[in-house]
Amino acid sequence: MLRVTFVQANGVEKVIEDALPGQTLLTIARANGVDGVLGDCGGCCSCATCHVYVDAQWQSAVGGTEEVEASTLEMASEVVQVGSRLCCQITLRPELNGLRVTVAPSA
Ligand code: FES
Repeated sequence: MLRVTFVQANGVEKVIEDALPGQTLLTIARANGVDGVLGDCGGCCSCATCHVYVDAQWQSAVGGTEEVEASTLEMASEVVQVGSRLCCQITLRPELNGLRVTVAPSA
C-alpha cells in the first residue's frame, strides 16, 4: 500500500493510505472522492480536468509530460505552471510512495 496526498480544490488535504502500484492518480482520486478532480474524458488525456501540480520535491521522480499530455495541458494554459501534470497520466509505483499533489483550479 502506498500513500498519496491530494490538496483538494476546497483546500483540504486528503491523505490516501491504500493506493496500489499500477493505479493512476486519476483512479485513486476518483475512488476517494478527491474534490476538484473531474476526469471528464475517463483518463484518455483529452480533457485536462484532472490537472494537478506535483509538489516540487516529487517532480523529478514523477517525470515530465509526453507530447500528447503537453498539448492537452495547453487547454488549461491559464493555470499551467512548473509541476503541472494530468493525473490520469501518472501511474503510481513504489518509489512514489508519499507523493503529494495539489489539484489545479479549473482553466
Ligand atoms: S481525465 Fe481527461 S485528461 Fe485526464
